[in-house]
Order: sequence, then structure tokens, then C-alpha cells
Amino acid sequence: AITRHYKFDVMLQNVTRLCHTKSIVTVNGKFPGPRIVAREGDRLVIKVVNHVQNNISIHWHGIRQLRSGWADGPAYITQCPIQTGQSYVYNYTIVGQRGTLWWHAHISWLRSTLYGPIILLPKRGTPYPFAKPYKQVPIIFGEWFNADPEAIVNQAMQTGGGPNVSDAYTINGLPGPLYNCSANDTFKLKVKPGKTYLLRMINAALNDELFFSIANHTVTVVDVDAVYVKPFDTETLLIAPGQTTNVLLKTKPEYPNARFFMSARPYETGQGTFDNSTVAGILEYEAPHKTIQSNHSAENLPLYKPNLPPLNDTSYATNFSTKLRSLASADFPANVPLKVDRQFFFTVSLGTNPCSKNQTCQGPNGTRFAASVNNVSFIMPTTALLQAHHFGQSKGVYSPYFPITPLIPFNYTGTPPNNTMVGNGTKLVVLPFNTSVELIMQDTSILGAESHPLHLHGFNFFVVGQGFGNFDPNKDPAKFNLVDPVERNTVGVPSGGWVAIRFLADNPGVWFMHCHLEVHTTWGLKMAWVVLDGELPNQKLLPPPADLPQC
Ligand code: C2O
Repeated sequence: AITRHYKFDVMLQNVTRLCHTKSIVTVNGKFPGPRIVAREGDRLVIKVVNHVQNNISIHWHGIRQLRSGWADGPAYITQCPIQTGQSYVYNYTIVGQRGTLWWHAHISWLRSTLYGPIILLPKRGTPYPFAKPYKQVPIIFGEWFNADPEAIVNQAMQTGGGPNVSDAYTINGLPGPLYNCSANDTFKLKVKPGKTYLLRMINAALNDELFFSIANHTVTVVDVDAVYVKPFDTETLLIAPGQTTNVLLKTKPEYPNARFFMSARPYETGQGTFDNSTVAGILEYEAPHKTIQSNHSAENLPLYKPNLPPLNDTSYATNFSTKLRSLASADFPANVPLKVDRQFFFTVSLGTNPCSKNQTCQGPNGTRFAASVNNVSFIMPTTALLQAHHFGQSKGVYSPYFPITPLIPFNYTGTPPNNTMVGNGTKLVVLPFNTSVELIMQDTSILGAESHPLHLHGFNFFVVGQGFGNFDPNKDPAKFNLVDPVERNTVGVPSGGWVAIRFLADNPGVWFMHCHLEVHTTWGLKMAWVVLDGELPNQKLLPPPADLPQC
């Protein structure tokens, strides 16, 4: 294992997409940002220098950050933001993870332009549990907004219908030929026949789950959220914001007389306003020999399009997620907690709050949209929760009494209650070290219907059960999969349904949990867990770094 150093200069850069030029916040002038490569066991030391007017913080999405919570990155949760002209060094070790993760800004909606891949290779000499790929290619989905992120976020706070609609989806920052003015901004994957490519897919889009497919090709899913899974073949993938999926693409044995679109567009159960356009890249076979190349000018070949499932194809989506299983092998065991110390039932829902005077609010009866967990819409503190916790200064910053059951229980999939108003607060759940947690998350579908990709920082969890309708505590637990459930850091709570997860609270610190649909996070669908230090020296949060930003 080695230490790898990176420098992230956060700076403005002019970028043109859809014939629209704007100055965006980037890392090192790149969009999408630079890739980070490390092996399991390596230490990463990443110096982030803020050269822009915005406050900045960077999150290393899915990295476990064992005892190194100071390097996790969500602004006002584990650190104060890095202010203009300041810098902060994120320093952490990769423990027991290999696959694909990603980094993104974790403040306001700056992640719309500040994101990039994290590639975690196995330890030197340790093979993949699948055939060694010929090449590896990151495929990052994103969204392009012609407007400024600040304008979008302000609009989202006030209204909540359309402002989350982006102008295009992108693959590796490029919208592709199905959008106006974008034929030259098309991601092209050039491949050779008869080879295996590892595609490292990341959904960095702000507000949409996506279906993805490559025309006339199937892929084999081998890894999600940097955990190997039992391989399975599929024509279409479903990937929620925050999630990563590694797939093997076996190219055709011969040079084909065609090119192939690889496209993505949203999976969306609700009737909300959203972008239902399609991003396309092109899979193009390089000629194996120069002589053949002269006969085949790729540009003139026909271009095949994949069949993506209909927008609201819930059964396809459910079927896909139930295929995901841990390897659960001798080398890669699934350490599912079998006993449960604490059980929690959280509702995740969209509701409303009163509209304040200077706002225009488009919620029902002139209210403002709000989103909540157990009817608490999370209020961001003005200082970092981890600092407040670590230095014993939590008073006035957060309450350790998060409601462990919903404040307004009702039949979540029946008629919504008249009163959809939610409460506010900065409330946290406090867990002793090594508590084994079972958490049921129930979507309430009070307003709209959309599945919520819930992301937990600092942990992987096992998805032991999921279903539609109301969770039934008498019947459903008997069906839990405790043998080979998928292990991940972001899971979709199905619209009108529930999901059950288990994790061991073996990582001391303050850990954010939120919907990875940016608009829902903004409305308050977020909370945090405090995991206390254990008794032994190696069970305690490391001391804060000297350059930790101050608020
Ligand atoms: Cu990828 Cu808290 O986020």
C-alpha cells in the first residue's frame, strides 16, 4: 500500500454545451473533474484549494472513512466549508473496498459541475473475481443546466415544481447528438472486437434515476457501490443518483457493420415535471486491421438505437434491483448482522410547510414544499455537527432526540392525511459503538410519487428486504434475506413501498443520511447519526486535522 497525493484547484472555467457558454466551478479546469485512482489499502491525500467565490466542500461518496470522519466532506455535517482562498487536506485510507465510487461537491447544488470518478483497484496481485478486463472506462451520467446552480436552488426552495428540470443529461459531460447543437459533444467509446471492457458507471445526475442500455449488446453486472455482486446479464441497467455499477461489456467477435447508441433516460414513477430527454453516446468498433478500416468509414455505418423501458416501468426496476446479490463467497463474505440491537422505522416523504412572506410558493394551498424523515424536515446547522459533537458543544447546535417512529402514523399507501405539514429541526440519532441497526424506510407518497435513493455516509449496509405497500412488522421480516443481500451505500426506497437495511455502527463520528435527489435533500429529506467512540483506542474517531476549516 502506498500514499497517493492529489491536488484539487477549485476554479472557474468557461464551458459550452447546447450552444450555451457559461462559467462553471470545476476542479483543475476540468469538466467532469479529474479521476482518482487508488488500490485497496492505499492512503489518499488530496489537497483542495478554493480559488472561487463560493464556499466549497468535497465528499468522497461511498468511501467508508473508518475513524476518519473529518475527511468525509458534507458541509456543516463533518466540516465547515472551505472558504475562498483557503485549503483543506482530505486524508483517508481505502479499507476493504474495490470497485467504483465517486467524488462530488457537498454544498448547495455545486455538485452539478463538481464531480469525478474514484477508481479503486484490488490490492496488487489480487485478481478480480471475474475475467480480467482488456480496458476500463468510466461512464458518468450528469445533468447540464443552462442556468446557474444558485438560481436553480433558490427556485427549488421557493416553488418545487419545474426548477429541477435540467437542459440535458450528459455522459462524461457530453449531451450527445439527440440534443440541439450537440453532435460534436458526443461521448464515443471506441472498442475492438472480441474483448471485454469494464464500464465503471456512475450516476452523478442531480434528480433522476436512469435506465441505461447499449443497442444490440448485453452487459454483465459485477459490482455495485464498490462491492462485488453475483454476476448477471442484462440489457438494461437501472442506476439511481449516488449509485455506481460496474459492468463487463463483451464486444462482438467480428467488426460489425454498424455503430451502436448507448443511451440513458429517466425512470420516473411520479407525474412531476422533469426532463424526459435522452442522452446518447456511441459505441464504435475500431477496425482490427488497417486494410479493413479503409473499407469501413465508421461515420457512414448505420447507427442502432437501444430499446429503453418505458419511463414508469416499475416492474422492470423492481426486477432489476432484486437480482442484485452479494457474492457471499469465502473470499468475499456477506457479513450481514444477524442480531439486531436497535430497530428504527423511518417514513420518508414529501410534504409542505408554511410559505414565508418574501417567497412565491407553489405547493398545495400556497404552501412551500418540504421533505422529511419521520415528519422532521432537517434544518442545516451553521456550524459542523462533527466538531460540535467531538468538542462536547452540541447544545444549541443539534438535538440528540430524533423521533424513532413517525410523528403522524397513518396508512402510508392509502388516502393521504389532510395535514401534510411537517416539523423542522436538527435532530440526530445517537448510537453506542458497534450497535447493530435495522432500519425500515417507508415511502409515504403523500405528495407525488417518486422513489427516493437514500444514501448513508460512513457505512455500507445490507438491503435485507423490500416491498410495495405498507411494511408489515408481523409478516415481512420472515422473508428477509440474511444470506446474500446486496451491500451498498445508496438504495432506492420504492415509491409506495419500503426497504429494510441492516448495518453495524462500527465507525465513530457523525454520518449524514439523505435522499440523493438534490431537490429532495434541499427540501429537508435528510438526517444524521452520531456513532459514539468505543472503549479501545482503535475504536475512536481520530483527532481533527490542524487545517480543519472553521465556520
Ligand atoms: Cu453523494 Cu451526501 O452524498
